[in-house]
Amino acid sequence: MSILNQCESIKVDFTNDQKKVEQAAVSSAVEQLRLNYLGRKGKLTALMDELRNVSKEERPVAGKAVNVLRQFIEGEIQNLVTQAKSWELKAILDRAPIDVTLPVSDAAHSGSLHPVTLVRHQLNKVFKQLGFTIYDGPEIDTDFFNFSALNIPDHHPARDMQDTFYVEGSDNLLLRTQTSNIQIHAMLNEKPPLRIIAPGRVFRCDSDMTHTPMFHQIEGFVVDEGITFAHLKGTIDAFLKAIFGSTLATRLRPSFFPFVEPGAEFDVQCGMCKGQGCRTCKNTGWIEIGGCGMIHPNVFEAVGYDSSLYSGFAFGFGIDRIAMNRFALPDLRQLFEGDYKFLGNFPIFSH
Ligand code: PHE
Repeated sequence: MSILNQCESIKVDFTNDQKKVEQAAVSSAVEQLRLNYLGRKGKLTALMDELRNVSKEERPVAGKAVNVLRQFIEGEIQNLVTQAKSWELKAILDRAPIDVTLPVSDAAHSGSLHPVTLVRHQLNKVFKQLGFTIYDGPEIDTDFFNFSALNIPDHHPARDMQDTFYVEGSDNLLLRTQTSNIQIHAMLNEKPPLRIIAPGRVFRCDSDMTHTPMFHQIEGFVVDEGITFAHLKGTIDAFLKAIFGSTLATRLRPSFFPFVEPGAEFDVQCGMCKGQGCRTCKNTGWIEIGGCGMIHPNVFEAVGYDSSLYSGFAFGFGIDRIAMNRFALPDLRQLFEGDYKFLGNFPIFSH
């Protein structure tokens, strides 16, 4: 096809495309139209390239025709660009109006508490109702409070159960591996009767889907004259029912912790399958919560309490595990990654 004929046909195409763009009235379509004709792979650009192959005699006429067409297309596109500005404005005006005078909803801006905080608040509330007081203590502590006063002497194999971070440059300081150190602090500072809970951070050299190097525990202990295993069982049953609901059964299983005798682990019936067995409870029907037992006489000796006069019980468990269970979280690490998209999904109020 001669250049002149091609000019004609491109002009017809352009006029058709131009009409479509005007009908669509969308500003991005104008840019697309420009690219289709004037862009590097555009129809007019291709035609201008072809001019090189035209004979010297025909070139002036052909060149002029292409130039006229180019000016025409450029002019039309310029008009469309001007028109597109009013299309954009209209699109904005047509949108649903935003009433900036509306009051801001509280929920939108107040954020939410961290799931671990929510569970901790609930636990504090339940234990307060059971007559417990909250006690705080150091996260960096000495070997005495974390281990030896708790009947875990140097080189005792029970130390292997808690892979510990030691503080460099000190032969005695470590990041506490358990909130049980608060038993010792509280007993040294106070006289019985004691009814204490101690929530806080603990640290172990562990990391996978269900373990993080830092996690939260809550310790509870009661010391008085005449405290028995029945008090322990009743307390555990009462708080597990308060947290997980009264329809789920609870149980104690014999276990070993050096600072209690007898010792047990306590479980709650799996809420997912109601004890039938499922993936969450690894088909056992039970979820393990923590450890407990009657405070060992050696612990009382270490703090100077008379073990023939006083008895007591202690328990400890992971707050994060309870949060995982309550909010059906597959990976414990999510709790500590600080991802706002994840953390924004929890109830705003804790009570
Ligand atoms: N401190 C123990 C642990 O971290 C739990 C525990 C606390 C066991 C109190 C018995 C009594 O594994």
